[in-house]
Amino acid sequence: MIQFLLNEQIETIDSLAGDTTVLDYLRDNKGLCGTKEGCASGDCGACTVSLVELNNSNDGLSYRAINSCVTFLSTLNGKQLITVEHLSDKGKLHPVQQAMVEQHASQCGFCTPGFVMSLFSFYHQNKESNHQNIELALSGNLCRCTGYRPIIDAAKQSCQDPIDDKFISNQTKTIEKLQSLQDHQASLTGLYEPQSRQQLAQLLKQYPDARLFAGSTDIALEATQLNKNLACLIDLKAIPELNVLCVENDTLRIGASLPFEKIEQTLLTHFPDLSELLWRFASVPIRNQASLGGNVANASPIGDMPPVLLALQAIIVCDNGDNFRDVPVREFFTGYRTTVLKPDEWIKEIKIALPSQHQTLRAYKVSKRIEDDISAVCAVFNLTLNSHIIAALHTGFGGVAATPAMANALEEKLIGLDWRKASTMETGKSIIQSCFSPIDDVRASAEYRQMLLTNLWHRFWLETNASDNKIETRVTHYA
Ligand SMILES: Cc1cc2nc3c(=O)[nH]c(=O)nc-3n(C[C@H](O)[C@H](O)[C@H](O)COP(=O)(O)OP(=O)(O)OC[C@H]3O[C@@H](n4cnc5c(N)ncnc54)[C@H](O)[C@@H]3O)c2cc1C
Ligand code: FES
Ligand code: FES
Repeated sequence: MIQFLLNEQIETIDSLAGDTTVLDYLRDNKGLCGTKEGCASGDCGACTVSLVELNNSNDGLSYRAINSCVTFLSTLNGKQLITVEHLSDKGKLHPVQQAMVEQHASQCGFCTPGFVMSLFSFYHQNKESNHQNIELALSGNLCRCTGYRPIIDAAKQSCQDPIDDKFISNQTKTIEKLQSLQDHQASLTGLYEPQSRQQLAQLLKQYPDARLFAGSTDIALEATQLNKNLACLIDLKAIPELNVLCVENDTLRIGASLPFEKIEQTLLTHFPDLSELLWRFASVPIRNQASLGGNVANASPIGDMPPVLLALQAIIVCDNGDNFRDVPVREFFTGYRTTVLKPDEWIKEIKIALPSQHQTLRAYKVSKRIEDDISAVCAVFNLTLNSHIIAALHTGFGGVAATPAMANALEEKLIGLDWRKASTMETGKSIIQSCFSPIDDVRASAEYRQMLLTNLWHRFWLETNASDNKIETRVTHYA
């Protein structure tokens, strides 16, 4: 059984299959067809809804936009789901809806509920409604007819000075209702939500074919795109050890189930040079769900965080409920979408050593679209200098091999060279050319990928010699 607030009403579900998406439930079971299905793969935003939960101190609410098409029902347990049908107040449109009308921000209207729900979530986040934040809030929504200018104008009109809407007026009641739903373990047909590592270990013994998930932004596509029946699912989000986020002994510990939205600021505090990569990781609704553990465990050769973790020499903590083992990420990926994880193991957390002052990090993502697109190539360089001499170089790449990969020869052969010299960069260029044999696919040709590798290396050299060369091409996307 799961219990949540569907708009204002307490809703109980006990008979649906665990792999039912929130989108299918809304449209097929509740007849709430304002939430649209465009792509069913998290790409278009037509299915956006708002997920509301108690904040950490239980005295306020946090609103986040999510893609209902890639979300399984158990994610709703103990939370409030707000759909577009519920925004108006006694026949009066919500300010974001009214602004969309006044700014002529809708034509065919298919995308409009999704844009409205992204803006509604943004409206409740008390963020400055500048152009950059609005673009970020809309990063998961596509419109094929209106164009984005009127939609951005509608966002500015409604979100600049938000007035109290019915959700703010009802906040105390909503908090009371949500508190009454707490501490209730989700279970549906073929879905389990362990509350501890021991329960998870037990479930894996009982159901060896069960599939684990956290954000479900990856695994849900097996149901929506490949029509697979995910008959046994285990939701990892309620296990406390998988939600840890702290610094201990100069090491950042990130619980495997935490969504990017919850780890971004901490990551940026310690690794500000990841700003552009994190900003360009999928879209806000995907980042509101997607976990670092899922990004590592799916072992995609085009995932964005494995190259970062390789360059930072992170440790993947594998767990079976009885014992942990620390696996260097450089030994974690064994082949195309395979890892060293044993059948009874899961990723508990990811550990990253904090950088020293002699370290320079850069992460580059090249993709066809700026937002919400998978990398053609992702390249990460982590350089340690001792008075301009290369003391250590660690790298990570995506999109150039069957697994996330390092340029081992580059890392070994440049030690001891003077980083300021153009000859060092040129030597690196010729080495990196022979490190990988990238493939041709829809995203990029092998030749283009090869060229990106050398050009990104060159860019890294130019940027990090910037004080001499007066070159700075980085963009900072987070304040
Ligand atoms: C529209 C869209 C855009 C995307 N853009 C990007 C992008 O820009 N860059 C990028 O890298 N990825 C991108 N992705 C892929 C995906 O969002 C990420 O890989 C995400 O981090 C997966 O995390 P999750 O929690 O949603 O994983 P889930 O779907 O929950 O799980 C993914 C896989 O990992 C396993 N798993 C999850 N957690 C654990 C654990 N703790 N231990 C063991 N196994 C586990 C699951 O069994 C499953 O096989 C995108 C996806 C979509 C739909
Ligand atoms: S239907 Fe396109 S993102 Fe969900
Ligand atoms: S108004 Fe037609 S897709 Fe946006």
